[in-house]
Amino acid sequence: MSGADGTRRVRVAAVRGDGIGPEVLDAALPVIARAAAADGVTLDVTDLDWGGDRLLRTGHAMPDDAIDVVRAHDAILFGAIGHPQVDPDVSVWTLVLPLRKGLQLYANLRPIVGWPGVATPAREGAEVDLLVVRENTEGEYAGIGGRVHQGTPDEVATEVAVHSRRAIERIARCGFGHARERGQTLTLATKSNVARHGYGLWDEVVAELGEREFPDVPREQAYVDALATRMVARPESLGVVLCSNLFGDILSDLGAPFAGGLGMAPSANVAPGVDVPGFFEPVHGSAPDIAGQGIANPTAAVLSGAMLLRDVGCPGAADALERAVGTALRDGGARTRDLGGTATTTQAAAAVADALDAPA
Ligand code: NAD
Ligand code: IPM
Ligand code: MN
Repeated sequence: MSGADGTRRVRVAAVRGDGIGPEVLDAALPVIARAAAADGVTLDVTDLDWGGDRLLRTGHAMPDDAIDVVRAHDAILFGAIGHPQVDPDVSVWTLVLPLRKGLQLYANLRPIVGWPGVATPAREGAEVDLLVVRENTEGEYAGIGGRVHQGTPDEVATEVAVHSRRAIERIARCGFGHARERGQTLTLATKSNVARHGYGLWDEVVAELGEREFPDVPREQAYVDALATRMVARPESLGVVLCSNLFGDILSDLGAPFAGGLGMAPSANVAPGVDVPGFFEPVHGSAPDIAGQGIANPTAAVLSGAMLLRDVGCPGAADALERAVGTALRDGGARTRDLGGTATTTQAAAAVADALDAPA
């Protein structure tokens, strides 16, 4: 949207969250805003104190009208949740999942690319550039299940995975679209040899859609167990990996070392074709083991900011920000401890800001 003075303004809801969430967002936000400003765009940032501390203080991680609050923005930038005094499932089910589901952000996009100067397990000369396209509303994340005979030897628990034709088809269309744009094969990860109802439906719907709407896009189906080995042994052989919610969660962490680790893995929760703000967040969590030390890698948050900028229609700023990340990593200023460097969170973000300002 445009301001009265003609400059473009983008409203960003910033949810810092818990643990290293506030550390990486505090470092990343000014750099993201700087990239936007250099492209003539002002970020209007609303700070939202949602997360574990708010939950402990008020009994609610976010307010009742949270969905309306974020809908009044163009995008959400999120740090991480996971508070030492809050049960992890409570953190997850009172904030991240209600936002993803409440906004029906059905596509979770998780790119994995190598960076200059960042060591990874990839074979010499192998270029990793893959995109995990994860269904983001159902599967094992449906929240359906229960327990009976609690605490007795007869105890039973169910966790029902939901797979609907509608949700599979919309995420598959998104995955095929990315594969076409990137000129890559779409690899569907399922487990239809065992879970034949749910994943059988995935296989059928994706094959039908591929034939009907994307005959030009090469596609293959792989069992997720074998795919896990292939992702580690030959990640360069993969392009777009389309998967269910839980498989996408696991495969994106599995692939992250090929970008340099969890501190390097950004993500976007979006709903292509629907007018709703996207929700951009690092793949990593609140990293309680390093929280409060100022050593967390802010790159995943910065790169999530680049995905945000691209989504709100600022591709120039997004490209510039990614280029600056590449420069700062190559020159070493952005290399934090997880990357074998010595930069603190703040220094790493400052190195990206310097690279943004440097003449191309
Ligand atoms: P984690 O991603 O928080 O940490 C895993 C490992 O990666 C840790 O050793 C951590 O130090 C390291 N790491 C993560 N991010 C890093 C960064 N930016 N820089 C350097 N090192 C980094 O996963 P976990 O330990 O399994 O989970 C901790 C908490 O986070 C749990 O409560 C979990 O539910 C939550 N979680 C939240 C999100 C989210 O908010 N989207 C995502 C994953 C996990
Ligand atoms: C992620 C996290 C989340 C998920 C949790 C925190 C809900 O692990 O973003 O990868 O499982 O999707
Ligand atoms: Mn995860």
